Amino acid sequence: MKSDTATAQSDRLVIFGITGDLAHKMTLPSLYHLEKRGLLNVPVVGVAANDMGDADLWKMTRDSVHAVLEGSGEAVDESVLTRLTERMTYLGGDFTDAGLYTRLAAHLKGSEHPLFYLEIPPSLFGPVVEQLGAANLTSGCRVAVEKPFGTSLSTAIELNNRLHAVIREDQLLRIDHYLGKEPVQDIEYVRFSNAWLEPLWRREYVESIQITMAEDFGVEDRGSFYDRVGTLRDVVQNHLLQVLALVLMEPPGASDDPIGDRRLDVFRAIRPLGADDVVRGQYDGYREIPGVAPDSDTETYVAVRLHCDTWRWAGVPIIIRAGKRMPVTATEVVVRFKKAPAFRLGDRMQRVAGHDDVVLRIGKPSGIDIGIRVKTPGVDAVEPEFLSLDFGDTLGEFPSPYERLLHDAMVGDHTLFPRWDSVEATWEIVQPVLDDPPPVTAYAPGTWGPHDADRFVRGHGGWRDPRAHV
Ligand code: BG6
Repeated sequence: MKSDTATAQSDRLVIFGITGDLAHKMTLPSLYHLEKRGLLNVPVVGVAANDMGDADLWKMTRDSVHAVLEGSGEAVDESVLTRLTERMTYLGGDFTDAGLYTRLAAHLKGSEHPLFYLEIPPSLFGPVVEQLGAANLTSGCRVAVEKPFGTSLSTAIELNNRLHAVIREDQLLRIDHYLGKEPVQDIEYVRFSNAWLEPLWRREYVESIQITMAEDFGVEDRGSFYDRVGTLRDVVQNHLLQVLALVLMEPPGASDDPIGDRRLDVFRAIRPLGADDVVRGQYDGYREIPGVAPDSDTETYVAVRLHCDTWRWAGVPIIIRAGKRMPVTATEVVVRFKKAPAFRLGDRMQRVAGHDDVVLRIGKPSGIDIGIRVKTPGVDAVEPEFLSLDFGDTLGEFPSPYERLLHDAMVGDHTLFPRWDSVEATWEIVQPVLDDPPPVTAYAPGTWGPHDADRFVRGHGGWRDPRAHV
């Protein structure tokens, strides 16, 4: 059972790293939207190393909200923005200095359940949580940490032990913004609420599964970060394995954390990656980016073939590919069904062309495409048409991932935050490749990465191009 601390409504939101890039682009606009929807009912304390005061924080908040909302064509409601800034105060100082935490403790006087949100470099997670503990600020708190959670299995274990020395697992929320995406949450709903779909969603009917996360841009402004990370750590170990778990998991049952338990079952059934199951690529020009080593062998593209040894999925090829500088920006899951055999139509045998794909689109525009064939007079083999649902049209506006996750963190809903056991299991899956990575192969920007990855889908209908039916 989770403790009261795990589920209590937070009475303060304390954001470490309030002046950072993520705060500008995501957190501050999300706070505005929460305020607008009447869901932000607590004082907000911004903490950073900058020498500035409350008025500077208010101005920064106004500027960020205006820049982001106007960029997406949304009008800013000034009264909402004023209500938001009236909640906000600023505290400046060095994150490793005990004096900052003494001042923070005084600032938080009367607060029983603060939420500390750490959007700071991961090397500071340990020091900050230890200082919070030393200042007696952790007994009723929750702590939310940004990704990445470790850089390998051993560093993740080390970080986890360090945090667990101060706070319990049920006080810790690890953010993976993919789980906060509405179309990702929809995977579970689509699978289990459509009576015709669920019985087919298994090895007897499914031929293969592909997940593509393509980005048409590079890493130009984040060279020094990216060069230490690479695509496997950046988006596969976390975002895409979490998405995959929702695609493969069994229906959640009754437990304290039903979806978390089912996701964990999936991770534990996936075999650790073998050398032959991975293709790494690097786009031409990457090594010239500031912050990137001139002889870097960091991958900007990776394709992996996974095996999930459950009764539902044994033997079904599961392929994930992710890359920068691809021909398009798109993230989608393709569940490819086995083909129907030829059948007699009038005086001839009718062949079935193309593939029976159900496509779950997670990027923009998000939605679902379901391939279905209809007869065209005079044509022998007909490719499927796609029945398409665009979530933008059908669901209207939905909360951004950070809005959703910040709100869930404040109300103590842990569903969308990966637990330690599943984070550990995902590191176990990728660790053999981190230990012994195959060489990177160069690819031209604007292409689909090294051809060697095609062997994963050979005999399974090839890659689906996300541009095909959109
Ligand atoms: C981040 C990665 O976690 O996710 C980035 O560090 C990546 O490299 C980003 O571009 C993708 O997120 P989204 O929501 O834009 O698909």
